[in-house]
Amino acid sequence: MTGLPILEISGLNKSYGAVRAVDDVSLHVNRGEICGLIGPNGSGKSTFFDCASGLTKPQAGTVKLDGQDITGWSLNRIAREGRMLRSFQKTVVFSALDVEENLVIAGQMFTFPGLWSTFGIGAMARARVEALRERAREFIKIAGLWDVRHQPAGKLSGGQQKLIQFASMLMPEPKLILLDEPMAGINPKLIERVVESIRFANQKFGVSFLVIEHNIDVVTDICERIVVLDQGRKLAEGTPDEIVRNQAVREAYLGG
Ligand SMILES: Nc1ncnc2c1ncn2[C@@H]1O[C@H](COP(=O)(O)OP(=O)(O)OP(=O)(O)O)[C@@H](O)[C@H]1O
Ligand SMILES: [Mg+2]
Repeated sequence: MTGLPILEISGLNKSYGAVRAVDDVSLHVNRGEICGLIGPNGSGKSTFFDCASGLTKPQAGTVKLDGQDITGWSLNRIAREGRMLRSFQKTVVFSALDVEENLVIAGQMFTFPGLWSTFGIGAMARARVEALRERAREFIKIAGLWDVRHQPAGKLSGGQQKLIQFASMLMPEPKLILLDEPMAGINPKLIERVVESIRFANQKFGVSFLVIEHNIDVVTDICERIVVLDQGRKLAEGTPDEIVRNQAVREAYLGG
């Protein structure tokens, strides 16, 4: 894990009127790292993701991805050219398609112009789809969705849909994924599956992660390093051990 960080953000600022949602925050994610981003409600975590991922323009600051300055790039361009993907707090899947189809289509996102190539006739298209199916099945197994892989995504539970969304993000071979509360509102059994899927993608495919999560047990378990925001500012940064022992973090977030 040497060399340039995969993501390097410096002096990020984003205000909404008088609210300084993100106030001069600098943060990096090392290549191959799973990094946590935590903090109280309204501390600016999602806004930080909005600015980093190109959804919103920050008023100041620079964003570098894999050594390249991508400040001001759109969400689409960052996803397609930068291979940095983000999830949202709200889950979105193709409800009418089955689990496997959801993943295969996600795998086509940046390589072919549209659905025609997915279902297009010809040996190349068929071989490509078969390779995507193989990859999809690997993620489906890890995510614990094997038994429901031919069911429409819309018929599955909210937690299972979160897992589909997560597995779909792995299909286009991203370098870095920003996850916004991937465990929120799902039961402990499925939380385990999300954790396993993150570990698998990280270890087998070298995907780096920045994860916003309120479940502190999970964050301290999977992350090598954690950054804490409070009222838009960076309050602390360190190993899980350092963070849970940090008095300022305990007072602002962990309950004394
Ligand atoms: N689009 C917006 N318009 C106005 N204010 C906003 C907007 N987005 C965020 N804010 C404000 O910015 C601050 C940071 O919000 P943000 O959603 O980034 O926090 P968060 O750390 O993700 O919180 P949570 O843990 O509840 O998801 C809050 O005061 C919020 O009300
Ligand atoms: Mg949020």
